[in-house]
Amino acid sequence: MRKVMIDCDPGIDDTLALLLAIKAPEIEVVAITTVCGNAPVDIGTQNVIKCLERLDRLDIPIYQGAKQPLKQPFISAQDTHGMDGLGETNIQITSNKTSEAQDAATFLAHTFAQKNDVSVIALGPLTNIALALQINPDMGQHMDRFVSMGGTYKSHGNCSPVAEYNYWCDPDAAAFVFDKLGKQIEMVGLDVTREIVLTPTMIEYCCQMDPDTGGFLRDITRFYVDFHWQQERILGCVINDPLPIAYFIDDDLCQGFTSYTAVETQGISRGQTVVDRYDFWQNAANSTIMTDVDARQFFKKFLTVLLNAQKETIETDLEKLQMG
Ligand code: BDR
Ligand code: CA
Repeated sequence: MRKVMIDCDPGIDDTLALLLAIKAPEIEVVAITTVCGNAPVDIGTQNVIKCLERLDRLDIPIYQGAKQPLKQPFISAQDTHGMDGLGETNIQITSNKTSEAQDAATFLAHTFAQKNDVSVIALGPLTNIALALQINPDMGQHMDRFVSMGGTYKSHGNCSPVAEYNYWCDPDAAAFVFDKLGKQIEMVGLDVTREIVLTPTMIEYCCQMDPDTGGFLRDITRFYVDFHWQQERILGCVINDPLPIAYFIDDDLCQGFTSYTAVETQGISRGQTVVDRYDFWQNAANSTIMTDVDARQFFKKFLTVLLNAQKETIETDLEKLQMG
């Protein structure tokens, strides 16, 4: 089992990513860190606790992180994810689980003080990673892999014409991490996550296969589905964050190219990933930019794990119901 730390801002799709990561037999989630993003960070931490309660995995430690971006004022995505970050489901916490005393950045900086076999998958703004990197400039060289959901290459942005939310929310953190991590950033951005649309048919399928998990999925995505219909006339919802988890497990799921990438921090291009694919600047590559994804393979893995199903059953049903 490969060890991962997940930095996240739950968030509806972050929650689906946590379900996938914690249930997947190939990886061990050794810690979860939270950052402000979709919702204020304390709400995000509560949502992680709700997820761990659901999975009966309260043993996984949570480290709460940044309350605000490095320089910009904090703008949440509660219009997309609901005031509670979970689609206005207002699920109650029943345990006395809390986050650890240490903050996320200090925890990450100390964890990667020496070389180890742990990877980081970041599903929110990169504020915690940037703060940790300020404490420990060598941390990138000490981690196994670094995968980030964020940015976009050719696809349009989702909160400006050119910028994706995680990097737009804290562009200074994203720019700092791309500049200083010293580790190849595996960027799973909108070019590939836009292909991952959870449809009403799939949600209904989940309810039929596993009423408890399916019901939870239906409840937390309702608000998100309505948002997608109103904004983009998409029937269903784009679930960005489970893709980097599935890609971490099976890197054949996404294909891309290596390049030097910088992030703009100001003005109308704030948060844009400027990908120097044709090497104008002759800088060493700091990223792998994902451009292609096998969405059917993704859903096969996602549904098999979430629904505790046989992969052959899921495969046949995906085909028959023309899902994915
Ligand atoms: C990203 O922003 C958030 O709304 C999602 O959780 C995802 O991490 C997509 O732009
Ligand atoms: Ca997220």
